Amino acid sequence: MSDETTAGGATTTDAAAPLPPYPDTVGHPLLHTVGSMRDVFGFRDRAMADRDLVRIKLLGPGDVYHLGHPDHFERVLLNDRENFRKSDDFRIAFEGGLVAVEGETWRRQRETLQPLFARDSLVDYADGMVEVICRRSRRWESGTRIDLTHETSQLSLDVLFATLFGRELTVGGDEEIRTAADHLQHWFAPTSYPLPTWVPTPARWRFKRGKRRLQRVATELLDEKADDPPTDPTAADDLLSLLVGLREAGVESEALSDERIRDQVVTMIFAGHDTTSTAIAFAFYALATHPDVRDRFHAEVDALDSVGIDALDALEVTERIVTEALRLYPPVYTIPRETTTDVTVDGYRIPEGSPTWLTVDQVHRDPRFYDDPGTFRPARWDGALRQRIPDFAYAPFGGGPRRCIGRQFALMEAKLALAAIGREYHLAWPDDASDDAPMIPGMTARMAPETAFRVVER
Ligand code: HEM
Repeated sequence: MSDETTAGGATTTDAAAPLPPYPDTVGHPLLHTVGSMRDVFGFRDRAMADRDLVRIKLLGPGDVYHLGHPDHFERVLLNDRENFRKSDDFRIAFEGGLVAVEGETWRRQRETLQPLFARDSLVDYADGMVEVICRRSRRWESGTRIDLTHETSQLSLDVLFATLFGRELTVGGDEEIRTAADHLQHWFAPTSYPLPTWVPTPARWRFKRGKRRLQRVATELLDEKADDPPTDPTAADDLLSLLVGLREAGVESEALSDERIRDQVVTMIFAGHDTTSTAIAFAFYALATHPDVRDRFHAEVDALDSVGIDALDALEVTERIVTEALRLYPPVYTIPRETTTDVTVDGYRIPEGSPTWLTVDQVHRDPRFYDDPGTFRPARWDGALRQRIPDFAYAPFGGGPRRCIGRQFALMEAKLALAAIGREYHLAWPDDASDDAPMIPGMTARMAPETAFRVVER
């Protein structure tokens, strides 16, 4: 038995982690499973109301440990990361893709893919991004309503294909790809995830079909590239040119097999699509509901000569809006890991092989680190807040060596999308809508679909 001080300050012993304090019949997996399926955030938030660590018992994955303090994040993602690996869910979903692999394979893949996200590549992507963003937004008609969740989701897919995959999707077309990308979310559907994997839920079926379709799309893209291979991989500015180019140049690596390249395509579609889309949608929601911030934002974007790479430095207000939207509505609201050995956290025992989840949205709304944490206030980032809070108290992109490889890509896309759209339109939150745009959980969080914003031409 060991005594330790918890991240929350209490002293405990090396004991089984606490269960949610309700209902009185605590601890039955069926109750926790039903509670989670009904309301993932509510069930977990009530459980963690006055604790930094709880254990929720689910029928499928078993005991899931939720950790909600920046010190936990630092330990799991950085200082003690060999004791916390990626879970099987990542391998089921993405097989040999960057987001799922471990160890030396991960290190080599990350090194190979890094140039696609380096500053020079981002500069090259900027104009293409603005073009596809405007192509979509110019179809909106003033006075009509748009389903913003759907629009931003399509927009971020358009951007990914036009930049990383070097193949433009048609606006209003390529339905098969769009539906398949949408279905990747379903592996973590709250109505399905808590159940054992052998239960054939509709969400799992949709996920598997979506993944198979995207693998076919990836194979087609790969065949096109292989027919006309790039000669200089160092000059490649899209994923397939880079990987096929390296292969043609005689580089031998397991990461360059057809199968692995296909896994990277599926990984990037999943990791880069709904995440960025959620960030943009919630930023527009926050602007719609905070007129004072919106005025400052409009003044900033109206002052630009044009929207593109040269405008980025001037977008300070816009940048804070994105930063604050990612704090209040983090698309990756949970970062999952699995213990590789028995560990003790805050004096509680977590057995080997246990799902251990870092609750990003909880930390982002913790009054120990943020004043008035539930309020959207971009100006909070004006001063030295970043220096005052612990490093891991703001972690929308994770942390440590596995921090999001697409972070700068996503931030650039979000800022360009806000600026390009904000110069043309105000997206109004309808009077008849409820005050809150709910985050709904999936593999990443999304704004509830069919949230109809009113388009007002400026
Ligand atoms: C606002 C948008 C985004 C958010 C909030 C986000 C968030 C994250 C987070 C939290 C992680 C760490 C996951 C973990 O440690 O388990 C991650 C990893 C990753 N992200 Fe992002 N992401 C975003 C955009 C993107 C984009 C645009 C791309 C690619 C085009 C991308 C590709 C990846 C990949 C490949 C990984 C795995 C990196 C590795 O394991 O080395 N992400 N992302």
